[in-house]
Amino acid sequence: MADSRETLTINAFVAGYPIKHSRSPIIHSYWLKKFGISGSYEAVEVRPDDFPNFIATIRAQGPGSAVGGNVTIPHKEAAYRLADSPDEVAEEEGRLHATNTDGYGFVSNLDERHPGWDKADRAVVFGAGGASRAVVQSLRDRGIGEIHILNRTVERAQELADRFGARVFSHPQGALHEVMQGAGLFVNTTSLGMDGTEAPELDFSPLAENAVVTDIVYVPLITPILQMAQAQGIATVDGLGMLLHQAKPGFKKWFGQMPEVDETLRSIIIADMEKH
Ligand code: ATR
Repeated sequence: MADSRETLTINAFVAGYPIKHSRSPIIHSYWLKKFGISGSYEAVEVRPDDFPNFIATIRAQGPGSAVGGNVTIPHKEAAYRLADSPDEVAEEEGRLHATNTDGYGFVSNLDERHPGWDKADRAVVFGAGGASRAVVQSLRDRGIGEIHILNRTVERAQELADRFGARVFSHPQGALHEVMQGAGLFVNTTSLGMDGTEAPELDFSPLAENAVVTDIVYVPLITPILQMAQAQGIATVDGLGMLLHQAKPGFKKWFGQMPEVDETLRSIIIADMEKH
């Protein structure tokens, strides 16, 4: 009887559009090999129009086919709408669960690279897009005292702050210097500095002693914002770890083992980044 994880071949996927450059298959294949699990994890290109169909197929196939997968841009919102139980941790046969792992990846990366980061009483989050939402939620859930969101379009920061209520505040981008005063954590969630674009000069001197600056952008690995922080003698954590750590809960759920992010995995992904 093929009823154990040792004898079954388990399949999982990442769906997105475009998906060519997704590094999730490399990450999961690395762990599958490391644990000696018989399984596959593949990238599937799914156009936005086809996404509901794709989900219907996953539902219909049942045991033996894909047990689950990651969905990425532009399907994140649609996946939530189509799931039976968004954000429920409970397992139930035949039901489709959806959960966002970005926030988990974000805090797990800081835990690994800069333990003690969560002693910060005050965090500054620059940017108010989709990525910012997951970051703010994870900081709030971790119990960081005050979270200050700044954004070029202040209305978006306001909307986010309203959603999260007490302890989360919004400011226009111009208030950065003032708001950084005494903060132990600075997070860039904007696309500034991504793929060789310019980032404005930032002065991190108002930050608390032992503060850490992190960027969720990981191409390039050392973004202009991280470079500025390093030049000013501030500790930094790059964004690559967020990508690696966010893959852990999915692997555990589908393949049954909690994997670790190690230096070999990091260097495999960095080598792949250098190829493209
Ligand atoms: P994501 O889902 O990746 O966060 P997004 O929703 O497009 O992407 O958000 C991009 C973030 O980068 C926003 O906070 C955006 O600011 P606006 O809300 O004002 O657009 C920020 N951003 C992008 N380009 C920027 C720039 N040149 N200066 C300041 N902020 C910028």
